Amino acid sequence: MSWKSIYNDRLVSGETAVKHIKSGDRVVIGHAVGEPSHLIRNMIENKDDYKDVEIIHMVAMGDSEYVKPGMEDHFRHNALFVGGSTRNAVNAGRADFTPIFFYEIPSLFKKNLSVDVALVQVSIPDKHGYCSYGVSIDYTKPACESAKIVIAQVNEYMPRTLGDSFIHVSDMDYIVEYNEPLIELPPAKIGDIEKKIGEHCASLIEDGDTLQLGIGAIPDAVLQFLTHKKNLGIHSEMFSDGVVDLIERGVINNRNKSFMQDKSVVTFLMGSQKLYDFVDNNPSVEMRSVDFVNNPNIVMKNDNIVCINSCIQVDLMGQVVSDSIGLKQISGVGGQVDFIRGASMAKNGRSIIAMPSSIKGKISKIVPFIDEGASVTTSRNDVDYVVTEYGIADLKGRTLRERAEALIRIAHPKFREELTKEYKRRFNIN
Ligand code: COA
Repeated sequence: MSWKSIYNDRLVSGETAVKHIKSGDRVVIGHAVGEPSHLIRNMIENKDDYKDVEIIHMVAMGDSEYVKPGMEDHFRHNALFVGGSTRNAVNAGRADFTPIFFYEIPSLFKKNLSVDVALVQVSIPDKHGYCSYGVSIDYTKPACESAKIVIAQVNEYMPRTLGDSFIHVSDMDYIVEYNEPLIELPPAKIGDIEKKIGEHCASLIEDGDTLQLGIGAIPDAVLQFLTHKKNLGIHSEMFSDGVVDLIERGVINNRNKSFMQDKSVVTFLMGSQKLYDFVDNNPSVEMRSVDFVNNPNIVMKNDNIVCINSCIQVDLMGQVVSDSIGLKQISGVGGQVDFIRGASMAKNGRSIIAMPSSIKGKISKIVPFIDEGASVTTSRNDVDYVVTEYGIADLKGRTLRERAEALIRIAHPKFREELTKEYKRRFNIN
């Protein structure tokens, strides 16, 4: 049977496709801006047919209707990362959170959380019948490989990204054609504080380094200060529009990479239509699943890798809290520890935790003790550089006393006296 016949045989409406989700099923939704919005809308409309459907998702960029009050009987969301649309539901007890390193999610699907249905979005098929997972390979491809049923929204707006990024139409059980633009990420607001932080981070980056950057104002600000650098590379969980600008300027060319030279290696993408156009059929962008890209044993193959991530709090010992405020779940570990561990094992690898020193001058992010109930994301054993708008604290190989001194130097001036008091008490200094 030709792939075209298989495709036509499996073509159904969204309404019909979601009827194959059954009460009690575990449904994994394609990640981030790769989420199949049309299928999710159909699933919500069909809610009265479902009881206790478990929804697994990570960075949810849509409305996440399934966590709204009134949905409790039909859906229970199990978040592997908490974001704007799911935070209230998790903290109100209407949804759950499962702590997990990003690179281990594919193995969760094999060992701990069997997948009944994968609900994903892909590009149109090529002449051989292969669709690309486009902007999200990460856990999306592994979820399909573990799922009993794959329901795919085929969307002509989804770019055809290259790498280990394909699914054949014969591996999809139900195919729904629906074209709609992908969700776009609004540009981050970069203020004076972010610019200062960006400048400090950029001073730690040398020509020829390979970068991992997260989402938001700080990574974007760092990129603005790299325009004069040469031969930078990318091995990152994700990237956004700022990286495209540096590739177009020739600053990022992946020429110096010790691993997967000439390729920007990444597991998901989020940005504007400009980014989605850039990665379409672009052989310089290599998309792989997250158990490869984020695996610390793979990350460490990149000599001179520099990882830049952010956090909520750092205590005077260098313990980094990135995903909770006390017991309140704010986000998740994502790939932070995957990359920090990988970088610490890499030749000349370095990692940076970059953050404003305070919340609007009112709450210090450098604290004597982390908030009660908070979870340590990056341990004091792994932490390397911490950067605020006031400078750089180089913590690796430093004693507890030296760490406290270095962190107080980059704290917001308003809180230095209070931090110094605790430092003196702790180390018996008069
Ligand atoms: N005390 C109280 N509130 C705090 C706080 C603190 N120490 N630090 C942050 N907050 C609040 C902010 O005010 C903000 O609240 P709001 O949403 O009501 O405005 C919220 O927490 C988020 O902080 P913000 O600084 O706006 O977030 P960000 O977009 O810069 O992201 C992290 C910061 C830490 C949440 C984010 O980097 C993250 O999730 N990191 C972990 C995952 C990771 O590193 N992944 C790898 C790269 S993708």
